[in-house]
Amino acid sequence: MLLEKDENKIPRFSFRPFKIIENIQIASNTFLLVVESANSLDHFSAKPFNFFNIWVPRVDEIPLSIAYQNGKRLFFLYKLRGLGTKTLAQQKVGSFIGIKGPLGRGFEPKRSEKWLIVAGGIGIAPIPMLIKRALELDAKLDIFWGVRVSTEFFDIAKIFGLPNEAWSIVRVSEDCMADFCGLVIDAIRSVNVDKYDGIIAIGPQEMLKTFCKQYGESRENTYVSLETIVKCGMGICGSCYIRESEKLLCVDGPVFRCSEVAKQLEGASA
Ligand code: FES
Repeated sequence: MLLEKDENKIPRFSFRPFKIIENIQIASNTFLLVVESANSLDHFSAKPFNFFNIWVPRVDEIPLSIAYQNGKRLFFLYKLRGLGTKTLAQQKVGSFIGIKGPLGRGFEPKRSEKWLIVAGGIGIAPIPMLIKRALELDAKLDIFWGVRVSTEFFDIAKIFGLPNEAWSIVRVSEDCMADFCGLVIDAIRSVNVDKYDGIIAIGPQEMLKTFCKQYGESRENTYVSLETIVKCGMGICGSCYIRESEKLLCVDGPVFRCSEVAKQLEGASA
């Protein structure tokens, strides 16, 4: 279910300094960033699918989904994609970085629900936080995680100390070195989606487009988590406008029903 907007009572829309505790490569092209606030964060806890803008000095700000929160520490998973993430990967442990958020609306299952999660590549980033919440809600998650090459996999249970209850994971790779050989969207074809209370996909836009075509037209509880440019994060600048809708990703998203983002996904190459 989509969570209420604006639940946190701290000033979320300005950058605050966080100290880098860890910034390490954990898989091919993929990094784990752990930062710690100088101040207590007791007055907020990030929700699954919230995201934060990370200020990369002298380059840009980049939105990253929260992967996990433990007290004053925030955890992010990111892939090297361009100058922003490459420069972020060079930031040293002990240095400070500006972070703005949490932004967006959270999204989580209701108590005791069962959800199918389809993650492509670094789309796995928000899932550790979702698992943590599922454990608290006695909900169940069946996760399918697809990558191009198996060296992109990493062990989310080990990294985040997640007990192996309440969730299962099927690994899918195009190099056939995993549980299923091929695309994640093909791996879920044999799954009976009707046994789930909802399904959600996170990953490259072309994958989301295919997912919504296959499942979004017949099922209302079919969701995708989108990415777009985020600047102000507070619904003013319009840079995160969802095409042909009245929605803004930074205040209404990043999770939307497939039916809400059909025009936005149409722009994706098939
Ligand atoms: S980022 Fe400015 S309106 Fe969403």
